[in-house]
Amino acid sequence: MRIFSGIQPTGAKHLGNYIGGFTQYVATQELGEGFFCIVDLHSITVEHDPAELRTATIDLAAMLFASGLDPARSTTFVQSHVHAHAEAAWLLGSVTSFGELRRMTQFKDKGDKQEFVSAGLFTYPVLMAGDILLYQTDLVPIGDDQRQHLELTRDIATRFNQRFGETFRIPDGRYPEIGARIMDLQEPENKMSTTGGTPLGTVFVADPPDVIRRKFKGAVTDSGHEVHRAADKPGVTNLVEIMAVATGTPPEAVEDRYDGQGYGQFKSDIAEAVIAFLEPVRLRYEELAADPGELERLLRAGAEKAAAVAAPTLEAMYDRMGFARP
Ligand code: TYM
Repeated sequence: MRIFSGIQPTGAKHLGNYIGGFTQYVATQELGEGFFCIVDLHSITVEHDPAELRTATIDLAAMLFASGLDPARSTTFVQSHVHAHAEAAWLLGSVTSFGELRRMTQFKDKGDKQEFVSAGLFTYPVLMAGDILLYQTDLVPIGDDQRQHLELTRDIATRFNQRFGETFRIPDGRYPEIGARIMDLQEPENKMSTTGGTPLGTVFVADPPDVIRRKFKGAVTDSGHEVHRAADKPGVTNLVEIMAVATGTPPEAVEDRYDGQGYGQFKSDIAEAVIAFLEPVRLRYEELAADPGELERLLRAGAEKAAAVAAPTLEAMYDRMGFARP
């Protein structure tokens, strides 16, 4: 079984990325042949600082390895190191319609926040489809916010296969059972996010314990005492889910334990649970980040393996689309 996922090197990684991304990458690398990609080409679709992109790329590699990705077992690499990604995106652009891209909710959300809406932001899902399809992927571990992009990837692959002959495997998504959509602690109607989140509502993987305590203490709930998940209580629902994931207990058990006790104790227990959940990763991350030379070496080896796997798919795409090859 082939597993592929991608994560952007923009900004510091947060608890949503950790639960929707990292923990799933580590779990799925046990299921088969995993490819985990630092998608730097995606990160230039909104305004970015070149110097920051360069350090964030190496930094994210440190965090991925720290969370448990094993270079002996799976392939971790940088998207721009494997030329096939940019080429596949161009070819797949011709089997993707303007209307499909216009319906992407992430484009609408992110586009609304930009003064300069780049063409790259619009065609971003095509690049993502290429990422996945180049590796003949079976399973894509992602959070809920990437669901629409994966559906589009499946449509693009199906269309290409029908027009040009069987070329791509059709991938399935894998979403966390709990925590597929972690919400901002201050604005629990919005997802926790690097670009759109509030500073106090976003818990970073590398946050020191005191900062994590402060953020959970200030988390928005409501004025009651009930610890129950409900559509009209997004703040409480989110906290129950975070507690469930951090402690590996079912959300119902969390509700039973804290119901009627008020939110003070509940919030401080969650903070401690999240600190314990993230601490080993943070410590290992600090160690690995101190040796960028070794990280670069691992990424070079990863890119070499990835390039070898992606090349035959790209070649088949060119061939079936009718290009005269050199
Ligand atoms: P990115 O970098 O925004 O996020 C990385 C992963 O974290 C998940 N995630 C969340 N999960 C739960 N709650 C949240 N609040 C939350 N926020 C983020 C995301 O769903 C994702 O799994 N377009 C992708 C990167 C990408 C990709 C790919 C993914 C490029 N090519 C191919 C899979 C396959 C993105 O921007 O993820």
